[in-house]
Amino acid sequence: MNIDKKFIDSFVHTTERAAYGASLFKGKNDKIGADREAVNEMRKQLNNIDMKGKIVIGEGELDEAPMLYINEEVGTKRGEELDIAVDPLEGTNFTAKNLPNALSVLAVTHKSNLLNAPDTYMEKIAIGPGLPENLVDLDFSVEKNIRLLSDAKNVSPHQINACVLKRPRHNKIIEALNSLNVKINFITDGDVSGVISVAKPSTYIDIYLGIGGGPEGVLAAAALSCLSCQMQTRLVFQNEDEKNRAKKMGIKELNTKYYLKDMVKGDVIFCATGVTNGDMVKGIKDLGDSFEAETLLLHKSSNTNKIIKNIIKK
Ligand code: FBP
Repeated sequence: MNIDKKFIDSFVHTTERAAYGASLFKGKNDKIGADREAVNEMRKQLNNIDMKGKIVIGEGELDEAPMLYINEEVGTKRGEELDIAVDPLEGTNFTAKNLPNALSVLAVTHKSNLLNAPDTYMEKIAIGPGLPENLVDLDFSVEKNIRLLSDAKNVSPHQINACVLKRPRHNKIIEALNSLNVKINFITDGDVSGVISVAKPSTYIDIYLGIGGGPEGVLAAAALSCLSCQMQTRLVFQNEDEKNRAKKMGIKELNTKYYLKDMVKGDVIFCATGVTNGDMVKGIKDLGDSFEAETLLLHKSSNTNKIIKNIIKK
């Protein structure tokens, strides 16, 4: 069953408003304030939509997040049952420091079609469209993945571009990439757009590798599932408490390797509005009484992949 196209405008409007809320904090060194405003705005918009919506990826669990917590019901409680993954502000540091690539993001599927991932880390590997199925694998070494990818692309490893989040935990990955002379595009935050960059020819990114947030992983998976890309993930637990939380959320096998089809099923709407200017979309532009917002809109069943530019009354 497809998600009715009538929902698209409302979800685009939701990330537009959330991005605007966050944009008021651009360069103000207040990442908590920026996130709070984005969450407020996003929740207000979601609650206006005629749907029985449920937050499955949100700001945390009930005891740690007052709004848009996991399992929170949103919408007017009339209409279709939809599961929603949200990241009202992806790139809190980017916003606080007025750096590029802060986004407001959400993904929507029918009920039970999104992986309910806990707020833990997640190992991720992603490649773009048009490559043999299951070409790369989380269980292969970095070297093997790069060789398989460069062979499939008919280039040598030094012509491959990898995107990696700059963190000490990735030193081994970076060493392996360096040993093959792979070009590395480091990002300091924001792995939702980092992962999505494999889908966009203009970024020249061939592969995304590394560990980032689990919720961000599911959001990126929702986008890649609309863009015929490939992605594998595995949750990473730092302590027993995280493992118990995952079990409570219904995850039986903690070591499972997820393919895109395990994380996202059926039809998907994905919206990402720019807060600050970025590689995918421009940031919010203040026009006085109104503001301009740019949103990447993906809708799997209608093959929609476009940038929407709207001017909205404040
Ligand atoms: P926030 O916007 O919530 O601060 O997250 C930014 C982010 O860079 C994500 O894109 C990424 O998945 C995660 O943080 C990485 O976590 P960490 O900073 O702990 O390595």
